[in-house]
Amino acid sequence: MSQHKEVKLVTTHQLLAMKQRGEKISMLTAYDFSMASILDGAGVDVLLVGDSASNVMAGHETTLPITLDQMIYHAQSVVRAVKRALVVVDMPFGSYQGNSREALRSAIRIMKESGAHSVKLEGGAEIGESISRILTAGIPVMGHLGLTPQSIYKFGTYTVRAKEDAEAQKLLEDAQKLQDLGCFALVLEKIPAALALRVSEQLSIPTIGIGAGPGVDGQVLVIHDLLGITKEFKPRFLRRYAELHEVMTDAVQRYVADVKSRDFPSAAEGY
Ligand code: KIV
Repeated sequence: MSQHKEVKLVTTHQLLAMKQRGEKISMLTAYDFSMASILDGAGVDVLLVGDSASNVMAGHETTLPITLDQMIYHAQSVVRAVKRALVVVDMPFGSYQGNSREALRSAIRIMKESGAHSVKLEGGAEIGESISRILTAGIPVMGHLGLTPQSIYKFGTYTVRAKEDAEAQKLLEDAQKLQDLGCFALVLEKIPAALALRVSEQLSIPTIGIGAGPGVDGQVLVIHDLLGITKEFKPRFLRRYAELHEVMTDAVQRYVADVKSRDFPSAAEGY
């Protein structure tokens, strides 16, 4: 008989059950093996291989430049580490818009080559055909409405979305549409808390918020922001749980000083 305790994988069905029983869902981004293994071990329900990798891993201004191959590389690294969490992978800009066959091909590549459990796409009714086609292959899809960073050049700013009635109404309709199409969950980014609550009450699928207040069914943050690695990024919605920029800078400065002073390595630290 196996001595190992069985670790239960989080599934899309369990996320739905969590919403039904009022248990909040925790989601964080992850892009590499070491970090994913810490987050998974700490009990995060969902790991998002976000296209924010384009910003925090590659140093780009926006999420637009990251490629499908690069997203698959990050997803492979995360999947290797995960024992429990559901892994969602962002479909990068240009891999799904305007061509549902291309969208399906991209999603299949992500699932086949990385071993991830689902994909996330930004947008509403306008990408409905792509979402439907991906779902026909049995690939679970998470939606993403509100501030959708792949559309930054349309918005012109990263400020709060859907403050005006017309945009709020469109968001409510898009949310319903994504649920009707078959999405298993929805990210709501940077929208008024009252609107996020309304969407969450209207939908039976879970909503995961970032800058969307407490009325959603779960929360997501970019891990580098939560840990205080991204020093200058301090939006109102962000709660920083550590100040790793300072901790890491101090550790590396002490290492540099020890090397220069010949304190490191000591005799005991060699062979
Ligand atoms: O790419 C990302 O990190 C995201 C989250 C902000 C939801 O899409």
